[in-house]
Amino acid sequence: MSKQSHTCSSLIGEPHSPSVPAFKITSLLESEVHDVACLTFPLYRSVLVKSFEPDTAKERIIAMVARSGERPVGLILARYSLTESDPPDSGSTECLNILSVMTTPLWRHCGVAQALMKAIATEGIRLKLKSMTTGYTTKICSLVAFEHLLLSTGWSTPLSSMHMSLFKISDMATAPWLSMAPSLTDGYEIFAMTDLKDDERVKLLAGIDAGDIPYGLSPFADEELLVPELSFGLRGGGDVVAWMTLIRSPFVKDALCYRSLFVNPKIRTAHGFGPLLAAHAIHCHAQHQISEERPKGIFGTSFKARKQLNFVLKRLVPHCYDLYETRTSTLILQQE
Ligand SMILES: CC(C)(COP(=O)(O)OP(=O)(O)OC[C@H]1O[C@@H](n2cnc3c(N)ncnc32)[C@H](O)[C@@H]1OP(=O)(O)O)[C@@H](O)C(=O)NCCC(=O)NCCS
Repeated sequence: MSKQSHTCSSLIGEPHSPSVPAFKITSLLESEVHDVACLTFPLYRSVLVKSFEPDTAKERIIAMVARSGERPVGLILARYSLTESDPPDSGSTECLNILSVMTTPLWRHCGVAQALMKAIATEGIRLKLKSMTTGYTTKICSLVAFEHLLLSTGWSTPLSSMHMSLFKISDMATAPWLSMAPSLTDGYEIFAMTDLKDDERVKLLAGIDAGDIPYGLSPFADEELLVPELSFGLRGGGDVVAWMTLIRSPFVKDALCYRSLFVNPKIRTAHGFGPLLAAHAIHCHAQHQISEERPKGIFGTSFKARKQLNFVLKRLVPHCYDLYETRTSTLILQQE
C-alpha cells in the first residue's frame, strides 16, 4: 500500500493528521461480512451477521468499517442489549460493550482505530446509551497500542479486574496442597451439579433475586457452557451453601474455566469449604476424560476478593505456567 499524503476523509471520525491516507467509516455491509472477518477475533466472527438483525432483537451488534476505497482496513464491533421495557432509542441505561477493534497491519498508526472509536461513541450517543465499556486481557499482542488508544480517545485509565492463573491439570492435580485440604465437616455433602434438585434451583434463583447471591458468581452464570458433571455444590442444613462451577472456556479452546467459587458468607473461613471444593474439582477434572480435550484449567479471581486471591497466590500460582490479568475501561457518553 502506498501511503500518499492526503487528508483523512472519515465520514464520522476526525482527521488524525494531514499526512495519512484517506479512509472513511460506514456501517458494515452484508456483502462484506466475509471480507472483514479477519478484522476481528475468531470468537466474534459469528456475531458479525447479527448486526443485520432487525431493531427488535434484544441483543444488538454494531459493526463499523473503515475503508480505503472499497478495501476494509479496520473494523470495530460492539454489543448492547435492551431490556423488555426499553423501546429502541428510549434513553436506556444499558451500555455499549466494545468487543473488538482492529486495523490491518499496514494501516496501523494512521488514526484508523481512533476514528473507529469516535464513530462508535457518536453512534452510542445517537442511541442514547449512557456509557461504553471494554474488557480485555493483558495477553493481547497490541496491549500497549490498545491502552494508548483508550487514553487518546478519552476512556478511563484501565482498571485491573481479574487475576488469571493458567495451569496444566496434570501439574495442578499433583500439587501437595491438594492432599492437605481439610476434610469435609460433618453434616455437609458435596454433589455434582447434575444432581441439583428442582427445589434447590428455585431457592438459589430466589437468593439471586433477593440480592443475596451475585448472579455473576451463581452456579447459573454462563450456564450454557457449564460442565455439570465437573461442577460441584455443597449441601448443608437443607440448603446449597457453596459451589465451584466449571465451564468450557470460550477463549482458550483447550481449557476448562474454574468459573464460580462461592461460599455462603455465614459459613466462610471456619471450614475451608472454598479450597475443599476447588481441590475436589481439580481432582475430578484430572480424572475425567474431558482432560484429553481440555487438559488446562483457568482460575480467575477478582482483585477485590482478597481472601480468594491469597489462596490463589499461595496454592495455585506455584503450579501455573502462565499468569495474566483482565482489565476494563469505560467512557461516559451521557452524564446523569
Ligand atoms: C490496537 C489497534 C487497534 C490500534 O490501531 P491503530 O489504527 O494503529 O491506532 P491509531 O493509529 O488510531 O492510534 C491510536 C493511539 O495509539 C497509539 N498507538 C498505536 N499503536 C501503538 C503502539 N504500537 N505503541 C504505542 N502507541 C501506539 C497512537 O500513537 C495513538 O495515540 P496518540 O494519538 O496519542 O499518538 C491495532 O494495533 C490492532 O489492530 N491490534 C490488533 C487487534 C487488537 O489487539 N485490538 C485491541 C483489543 S480489542
